[in-house]
Amino acid sequence: MEFSKRLDLFGDEVFSSLNAKRLELERQGRTIYDLSVGTPDFEPPAHIVDALVDSAHTPADWKYSLHDLPEMLQAVCDYYARRYGVTLTPDMVTSVGGTQEGMGHLGMALLDEGDTVLIPDPCYPVFRTGCVLGGGTPVYYPLSAEHDFLPYVAGIDPEAADRAKAIVVSLPANPVGSVGTPEVYAEIIDFAREHDLLVVHDNAYSDIIFDGPAGGSFLSYPGAQDVGVEFFSLSKSFNVTGARISFLVGRPDVIAALDKLRSQIDFGMFYPVQRAAIAALTGPLDSVERQRLLYQERRDALCDGLESIGWDRPNAHGTLFVWARIPNGRMDSMAFCMELMDRAGVIVTPGSSFGPAGEGYVRFALVMPPEKIRDAVDAIAAAGI
Ligand SMILES: Cc1ncc(COP(=O)(O)O)c(C=O)c1O
Repeated sequence: MEFSKRLDLFGDEVFSSLNAKRLELERQGRTIYDLSVGTPDFEPPAHIVDALVDSAHTPADWKYSLHDLPEMLQAVCDYYARRYGVTLTPDMVTSVGGTQEGMGHLGMALLDEGDTVLIPDPCYPVFRTGCVLGGGTPVYYPLSAEHDFLPYVAGIDPEAADRAKAIVVSLPANPVGSVGTPEVYAEIIDFAREHDLLVVHDNAYSDIIFDGPAGGSFLSYPGAQDVGVEFFSLSKSFNVTGARISFLVGRPDVIAALDKLRSQIDFGMFYPVQRAAIAALTGPLDSVERQRLLYQERRDALCDGLESIGWDRPNAHGTLFVWARIPNGRMDSMAFCMELMDRAGVIVTPGSSFGPAGEGYVRFALVMPPEKIRDAVDAIAAAGI
């Protein structure tokens, strides 16, 4: 059978090649340090698990939910007020099955064939996916070392910006680990106004920021609510990645458009998951702060370790990831990752899988305790890399 040409828009999944190699090394009995995928090794707080379990014992909570519970929408609004100082109303909030799914479908609600979207390079891959599934064409803007891996909108071609319909921004940024500043957000908002762009901000890591004040929301900056929406995922803050809890918040017209699209293909979030979300949003946040400090210890262990064995000190101010330049100016990140796995048993993600500007870099995920991270660095050193 000839399948849709749409499938040709996507390359091979990089994690499957890494995994095949990993299985081969495991069969040989090698010690493996897997720092490739960003799945947290921390646990979800007990009050969130309890809310889900209690709900699962209620037969009515197994029906199609069809809609977001008003209490859940209100809980998101209250959380935004408490945590970010942002005032939202329930018509400015909708649930999605993870930012991955929401971003994957948003392009279908926003774009027509031939539309363009400004997308960071390198970036989290679903930013591109959402654009191309909606019939759009991505136009990359760089996140480069020269501008501290932050969006530099003054460098974007104004004509390309005029033609584009939206700009995707995500700070703290996966994979590059940069963290937004009020000045950068102000420039992005002015740029969006000037070129009539919707800003789609992905705020997956506001709780994993190092060395400075707690992270915020894009929507807290002056003018942001006129030009933008934000994906707000609970995955990483509360270690609930498998439960798929995220929200799109912000401009009601965009929320309504995504809701209309999703109502055709989705019958709502499972009630026990909605109750878990309410528990997370209304409950204590001390575990989130503890976790931030633990991630920071891991970041320090990795960056100190890599520097001590001759790597450039990586860019790593936030997120679960550390973005490291491959030593000796090597550019072929996929080949380097295979070699690193073969010789040191350390699995990391090639920079090229996040976009053309990722070549020459690899991404480490901070998903192991500091002592294990130090062991991984020792293994890299022992392999002579
Ligand atoms: C930038 C970014 N956005 C979104 C996600 C996924 O979020 P969710 O679990 O809500 O789909 C990730 C996961 O790694 C991410 O790095």
